[in-house]
Amino acid sequence: MAIIFNEQSKTFKLDTSISSYIIKIYEGGYLLNLYYGRKIPENMIEGFAIRAKNASFSPADSVMGEGDFAPDSAPIEYGCDGAGDFRISAIKVRNHNGDSVTDLRYLSHKIYQGKPFIKDMPASFAEKDEATTLEITTVDKVTNLQVTLVYTVFEALGVMTKSVQIKNNSDKDMFIERAFSLCNDFPKMDFDLISLYGRHYFERKIERRALAHGLQGVESNKGISSHCQNPFVALVAKETDEERGEAYGFNLVYSGNFSALVECDYNDSARLIMGINPNHFSWKLRPAETFYTPEVVCVYSPNGLGEMSRTFHKFYNKHLIKWKRKYEKRPVLINSWEAAYFDINSEKLLDFAVAAKDLGIDMLVMDDGWFGHRNNDKSSLGDWFVNQEKFPDGLTPFIDKVHEIGLKFGIWFEPEMISPDSDLFRAHPDMCVHAKGRAPMLGRTQYVLDVSREDVRDLIWEQLDAILSANKIDYVKWDFNRYISDADSAILPADQKKEFFHRFILGTYDLMNRLTTKYPDILLESCSGGGGRFDPAMLYYSPQIWTSDNTDTIDRLSIQFGTSLCYPASSMGAHVSDYPRAFYGTKADVALWGSFGYELDIRKLTEEQKAEFKGHIAPLLVGLRKSYIHICKWVNFENWRGS
Ligand code: DGJ
Repeated sequence: MAIIFNEQSKTFKLDTSISSYIIKIYEGGYLLNLYYGRKIPENMIEGFAIRAKNASFSPADSVMGEGDFAPDSAPIEYGCDGAGDFRISAIKVRNHNGDSVTDLRYLSHKIYQGKPFIKDMPASFAEKDEATTLEITTVDKVTNLQVTLVYTVFEALGVMTKSVQIKNNSDKDMFIERAFSLCNDFPKMDFDLISLYGRHYFERKIERRALAHGLQGVESNKGISSHCQNPFVALVAKETDEERGEAYGFNLVYSGNFSALVECDYNDSARLIMGINPNHFSWKLRPAETFYTPEVVCVYSPNGLGEMSRTFHKFYNKHLIKWKRKYEKRPVLINSWEAAYFDINSEKLLDFAVAAKDLGIDMLVMDDGWFGHRNNDKSSLGDWFVNQEKFPDGLTPFIDKVHEIGLKFGIWFEPEMISPDSDLFRAHPDMCVHAKGRAPMLGRTQYVLDVSREDVRDLIWEQLDAILSANKIDYVKWDFNRYISDADSAILPADQKKEFFHRFILGTYDLMNRLTTKYPDILLESCSGGGGRFDPAMLYYSPQIWTSDNTDTIDRLSIQFGTSLCYPASSMGAHVSDYPRAFYGTKADVALWGSFGYELDIRKLTEEQKAEFKGHIAPLLVGLRKSYIHICKWVNFENWRGS
């Protein structure tokens, strides 16, 4: 059994094939995290220190008295705010009295086969015999706040997921001010913290630093997971490298503002919390309502980062990406963006299609510029109807011709945006994200559309659906090209304004759900100016993500290498382009590491180049992978981590 409860010692043991995790119900109902690491024998559930040391200034529970236990120095399973544990807390709820003391103690638990869904949120999934779940319900007896900690173990893969449900069991409103998905107390701080930082054009560089006393970590407050920090962190032993040493990897299944913080305290222990960023967040919880946090995927590897990465890859391919055709060979595509930018029309794209067919390419993707009166980035987002000047016969005859040539067809949208110069904005100026009395800021000459609102989602979905239902579309590229400022929704009351960011991302999920449910055969590739929203939640809907707007082969080496720390190779959109810094052969070797395509004017290729391109597309050979390893070595990335 992957999860057992020992009645005598009041201990839960959660096992995978390679890891164990132990929680104890301590005196007073405190939940303690006794162990997380290499798998240990079933009966080894006692003897773990609860570290009641150096707590001389720290208060104790009034019933238990000032003995050898203080919440501030114990390995608390889910750290609460204001009740004697002074470290960064995982939860803080303001009650009707106005204070936010939150003190959760054990109430009940249940263990069952399978894994529950998370309401309105993407999450990993499992058949009944693939996973076991433990739900521990805790309660704050004064406020009747009920918090359920949900753990699922995927025994075969060495993976555990954690999420939290927060329920108001009182008859008064409460306000959640922090609701982290994960809290993990480690008995030592002798770790390095690994994270993925970057910016537009240079996403997911690997950064490794030693933990130090105090607070450290990574966050996004840009409205999306962002190019700048990824919702991934790992804590690794000092000696850990690709092949050796312990690694604990954590990845949040969320596309909005996130926070992953580590606090090392006076006892040299480390607490990691991960979840929705509490900055710009609060949530009004009415009586009987439940708030669901996103989940964190936790991977433990005793054999270095390579094994950690491969476990994430296998897990995401099997248990997170929901596209039913995910194991089929992905189409090799030609994308019009770097080949033509906004200067597209039916004639030019049909020429592309003919040239693509000759090379053995499977699909033509019509990127930005086909709709409204869009000839540059200054107009038309929100007007998802065809540009008659560029496509005089309309979209359908053009798409049919692409299919007649023998290619699949893909189309580009940016559904969560609105241009000030658009019919949609002229009709509904209130639908852009803006704070009352302030002119909203522009980014790439566009505003953000307030998809936290259902009426806005309906309006935009109607337009997308009209295009998708009238045409045979095999692929959609879903873009998002600015961060979110002026965070507010016109329809939210004052005491709920800070719900905006989370509601926005739930709105995005709703739209993606509509698309993937009604059109389950469409291959969805998400994108955000390249890899600004490259996170596990997007992977749930879109089996591939455009990795970066940077298609320079040499830069791509480190971008793709960093991305592979937790995301599978098949999830990375990777194209051969006309960036000059390498030969086409090298470009293809690097792009073949991901889901492959081209992004250049293939009409201009010489006969010699055409012959070479045909060779790229021929069955992907082990030799190509070998040459990739060779390139990695050349630029000092010692190990191949592919899957
Ligand atoms: C940003 C994307 O990353 C590009 O690939 C392209 O689709 C442009 N947007 C189009 O505006």
